[in-house]
Amino acid sequence: MTGQITFTMIKPDAVEANNIGPILAMINKAGFTITAMKYMRLTKEQAGQFYAVHKERPFYGELCDYMSSGPIVAAVLKKDNAVSDYRKLIGATDPTKAEDGTIRKVFAKSIAANAVHGSDSDENANIEANFFFSQLERF
Ligand code: RTP
Ligand code: MG
Repeated sequence: MTGQITFTMIKPDAVEANNIGPILAMINKAGFTITAMKYMRLTKEQAGQFYAVHKERPFYGELCDYMSSGPIVAAVLKKDNAVSDYRKLIGATDPTKAEDGTIRKVFAKSIAANAVHGSDSDENANIEANFFFSQLERF
């Protein structure tokens, strides 16, 4: 059993399309428990800090503009094998390559506006959860 938590964001495209409820329902149905959650808008600087690992990538500027373009929902999810099970549930980064039944296959509009974020390692799940939530906001 590796990793108990992962971190997710419902991205601006999915919030705009009124898909917060359906996405949270898929998350719960897949066996994840929500242990922290907030509805907020990132500044461009905060989006840049969150995705700093991609600073050198050609899409970084577009990614930061996009992630600060409207409100998001941030949440911490708990489950055995949370990181890998959640990556499976969200599907491939490019929704045209995502498997049927995954969140991105159902809700993503494009590779940039791809509905949700999911942590890629236990270490990053903890860093990302701590970026958004204080201990008082986590259960
Ligand atoms: P995320 O971090 O948001 O869960 O996505 P991911 O692991 O599946 O993909 P990653 O490689 O970490 O990329 C982060 C986000 O950058 C945007 N992106 N745009 N235009 C492009 O070619 C491109 N490639 C990536 C996506 O929003 C991706 O989720
Ligand atoms: Mg990633």
